[in-house]
Amino acid sequence: MTINRLWSACAGLLLAAGLGGCGEKPAEETRLAQEPAPVPWPTIASRATRDEALEQRIETLLARMTAEHKVGQLIQAELKEVTPEDVKNYHLGAILNGGGAFPGNNKYAEVEDWVALADTFYHASMDTGDGGLPIPVIWGTDAVHGHNNVVGATLFPHNIGLGATRNPELVRDITRATAREVAATGIDWTFSPTLAVARDIRWGRSYEAYSEDPQLVARFGAAAVEGLQGAAESEDFLRAGHIIATAKHFIADGGTLDGVDRGDAAISEQELLEIHAPGYFAAIEAGVQTVMASFSSWQGEKLHGHRYLLTEVLKNKMGFDGFVVGDWNGHEFVSGCTRVSCPQSINAGLDMFMAPDASWKQLYANTLAQVKSGEIPRARLDDAVRRILRVKLRAGLFEAGPPSARPQAGDRSVVGAQEHRAIARQAVRESLVLLKNNGELLPLARNSRVLVAGDGAHNIGKQSGGWSISWQGTGNSNSDFPGATSIYQGIAAAVQSAGGHAVLSEDGSFEDDPDTAPDVAIVVFGEDPYAEMQGDIPNLAYDSEADLQLLRQLKAQGIPVVSLFISGRPLWVNREINASDAFVAIWQPGTEGGGVADVLFRDLEGGIQYDFVGRLPFTWPKDAQPLAAGGEPLFALGHGLGYADEGALAQLPEESGLTPRDTAQQLDIFDGRPQDPWSLEIADAQNNRLAVTSSVAKLNGISVRAVDRDMQEDSRRLQWRTAGSAGFYANRRTDLSGYLQNRGALVFDIKVDRPPTGRVQLGINCGTDCGATQPISELLKSAEPGQWRTVSVALQCLAAEGAQLDMVLSPFYLSSDGELDISLHHIRVVENIDADISCG
Ligand code: BGC
Ligand code: BGC
Repeated sequence: MTINRLWSACAGLLLAAGLGGCGEKPAEETRLAQEPAPVPWPTIASRATRDEALEQRIETLLARMTAEHKVGQLIQAELKEVTPEDVKNYHLGAILNGGGAFPGNNKYAEVEDWVALADTFYHASMDTGDGGLPIPVIWGTDAVHGHNNVVGATLFPHNIGLGATRNPELVRDITRATAREVAATGIDWTFSPTLAVARDIRWGRSYEAYSEDPQLVARFGAAAVEGLQGAAESEDFLRAGHIIATAKHFIADGGTLDGVDRGDAAISEQELLEIHAPGYFAAIEAGVQTVMASFSSWQGEKLHGHRYLLTEVLKNKMGFDGFVVGDWNGHEFVSGCTRVSCPQSINAGLDMFMAPDASWKQLYANTLAQVKSGEIPRARLDDAVRRILRVKLRAGLFEAGPPSARPQAGDRSVVGAQEHRAIARQAVRESLVLLKNNGELLPLARNSRVLVAGDGAHNIGKQSGGWSISWQGTGNSNSDFPGATSIYQGIAAAVQSAGGHAVLSEDGSFEDDPDTAPDVAIVVFGEDPYAEMQGDIPNLAYDSEADLQLLRQLKAQGIPVVSLFISGRPLWVNREINASDAFVAIWQPGTEGGGVADVLFRDLEGGIQYDFVGRLPFTWPKDAQPLAAGGEPLFALGHGLGYADEGALAQLPEESGLTPRDTAQQLDIFDGRPQDPWSLEIADAQNNRLAVTSSVAKLNGISVRAVDRDMQEDSRRLQWRTAGSAGFYANRRTDLSGYLQNRGALVFDIKVDRPPTGRVQLGINCGTDCGATQPISELLKSAEPGQWRTVSVALQCLAAEGAQLDMVLSPFYLSSDGELDISLHHIRVVENIDADISCG
């Protein structure tokens, strides 16, 4: 990129985020022509300005704190694994409830139960009984679309739907209402807003992003921070029912290759700045007090251990003075770290570990030892604690008293309040995007006879998506959402008010009687709820034959069909669109399903009640392939029809664009050298990882070297002295499902020089918490030492154990927990063979 273009991109993004300059424009443009231009990270002036008196209080407190007090502040433990006693004894800085964690493990805990529990933790943190130093503990929760862990709360549309509204004022109202509901349960802090700019919507967290457009994310992110925390210069800032916000996940969580959750953003620094950073500029300017580090990596290095990005960029250059919290044991993925030991993270600039399981006590002990040994410098420790204290002081928590004593705490009427539901219903109305309206079918007459079909019609869990009571949004029934309105209920109420009639029939069947035949069918269908990891998909096809058949069957009966598509992202639905007369993307609307009928039906006088104002926050793909940059979409970003527009849409092509897997019957993974896209990596028991880029590589107890079989260095010798693993990994997905269907197997040539002393597993990996292993110790023990042989393991064995073969990241790895010495020659996937290990 030339200096000129770089400059204008920078100026453009800062202006749009409402920020100041970008540094001086270089005078001699030619000077830097040869060297890459330094990336112009801006300094952000936070509207939450520095307060000298408060800084003094921090210093006074800090001077009274022991190393034990300080290390305790760096740890956030999870509800299921922490007691008030622990908070007191370890001086813990924070606690959280993970998605689907409740007081007393009771899903139906009442507002009073949340507050009472918050009180016990607060009192424990303020206990000075045995000479403790009173520092209020803060409780964080994922209130990402309303106070979504609490039964009875108002659930707003997920961020993708809010992006469609194009209404940042509304987002401010929504987050203001969310803050009130969270504060009413005694909780101080939310892990939101998500500022992801999702660039590959195969990513299962795409719906947590407002948009693929960085400027839209920036405007909405700032509004969300303001709604949650209050305006930074106002008296209400972090007071009066406002809570602490988190900008997450820093940075480029939405920029990973292939949209792999927790994957690698293999992009330039300039792209980080232009695409993934504007949201943070805007949120910091609005005064956001905490930033959560991303699970993902940038250019192969995990953000949880990224000193340059956490310390140089975020803190030093951008000037962020709040604290950086980790994500759910995210530190354990930093090279050389484990769940219970990671000085690398703190030294890189992480200020608080999120350590949700019982092992946080070991993490505490190890971190304390690392402070005492100087492995974590005192200055770094003090800086982290200062930041945590700064946020707690700014939030007024030293003066606020116990959670129950704060304004509106314990007030049941706040959680799920009618005025909050009204805001949510408005958001639903404004989020709907009309994509097709043949024959001006919509708006519908209010006195229509409506058949309401589809598995999303009367299913509040489905219309709410992930992060709804439970983590993945699964396992709920309508009664878990008291006070909510399903889409069907909203339709029924609308038509009944005008003498119309709505019949709920999930499978679309109805009585064959011309007098009662429906005037129109409204079919509600789409993606079932999912959250992180489980929501990743290999391609963009929405494939539910049942839904398609339902639409086609209704159309064949001559009934006009309105499709309401529930989804966390645009998907390829050309066939479904063709089978519908009108088609509306409704995203994941949340608990106020009445907002849908508000727009679909005319008012009592036959006029238009509410027009469609939603516009696509993401580009809609023309086929099931991920949209290539510059590729032709079906509907562009910003598209969306209103009632005044010509809504007719001609028949769309019905080819998915998914090419059947190429007919090659063999896929090489290693053949003399690792084949594209994989590279060989080894890892030791301490989770040090090393990409093997030369002929010899070594870690603690595991080594690899290139050796000869038929040709020079055409094989690899792997030696284990203790536990470790070796395998081929890529950040890019590979689809092996075709091989699975054709009786495929993983085949490799192996020479056992020293049989295993422990257990050896062959594995396939498809992402965090996705993969399977197959024991092969016996097979290796029975092999004749020093002789090459070919081994085959049916893919079926690995699929049966949970490997998702259409999105494989690592097609082959071996782990051993004892000694082992082997050489590997040719590793490949082959079809139609009778494998040595076949699993029936
Ligand atoms: C998610 C975060 C969330 C945290 C706490 C993590 O797995 O990535 O977004 O805030 O858990 O539930
Ligand atoms: C928790 C979530 C968390 C996730 C991360 C779940 O068990 O409930 O809050 O984000 O684990 O793996």
